[in-house]
Amino acid sequence: MQRQTLIIGNWKMHKTIQESCAFVKHLMTLLGPTRAQIGLAVPFTALAATAQVIQQLQAPVWLGAQNMHHMAHGAYTGEISAGMLLEAGAKFVLLGHSERRHLFHETSALVNSKVKRALEEGLRPIVCIGETEQERNENLTQQVLHKQLLESLEGISTQQLKKLSLAYEPVWAIGTGKVASAEDADQVHHFIRQCLAQKYGEQVSSEIVIQYGGSVRPDNAQQLLAKPDIDGLLIGGASLDPLVFQQIIASWQGVL
Ligand code: PGA
Repeated sequence: MQRQTLIIGNWKMHKTIQESCAFVKHLMTLLGPTRAQIGLAVPFTALAATAQVIQQLQAPVWLGAQNMHHMAHGAYTGEISAGMLLEAGAKFVLLGHSERRHLFHETSALVNSKVKRALEEGLRPIVCIGETEQERNENLTQQVLHKQLLESLEGISTQQLKKLSLAYEPVWAIGTGKVASAEDADQVHHFIRQCLAQKYGEQVSSEIVIQYGGSVRPDNAQQLLAKPDIDGLLIGGASLDPLVFQQIIASWQGVL
């Protein structure tokens, strides 16, 4: 089963509307032909304008958001709904990113409600899971990931599963410069696929895209993407500069 390679930048709380539009324009001058699907998870405020630039330039860039509320609408001051994101041009949404889980206390149960809402509204979820450094040191990686995975996907049918993808982001590797070795990351991806196979069967588990995230740089991207169970990358810091982001995209073409 040939899975789509997804290379997605997660800008977090970086870039104004102007900066986001300028990034896409600059990236388009650099981007060569690629079979990877390139995505950008931009701040809410930049979605609509960035979507417009993507449309004007016919840029092969998939636009997404970094979070959403689990209800369709209501008295939730400061929150944003899936419908609002779609209207602003988002096609996917990151859910359960470790910064949401750890800094904003999101539980897997909450992530699960968000996954269901996003699917219901037609927004593609990218569900993030990952263990902390302490959990890894205590040999709890598999246990933690299994729990996060099952709880985040509770009640999700096989048909719904095909409409989402996953990202493995070890918390200790995010923004730290400590990248998981390609072998380690691949083993974990394989384990995640086995958990999916137990619940949904081999066939569908072999179709699910699992991205790796955590200190991805141009010098480690190729090794990671060369691994059989690593289907893509979720890139924070190194996605903020179009030149560096492009170097990562180009490095994958090297292993075609
Ligand atoms: P990083 O972030 O590439 O800056 O480590 C990855 C992420 O948080 O998605």
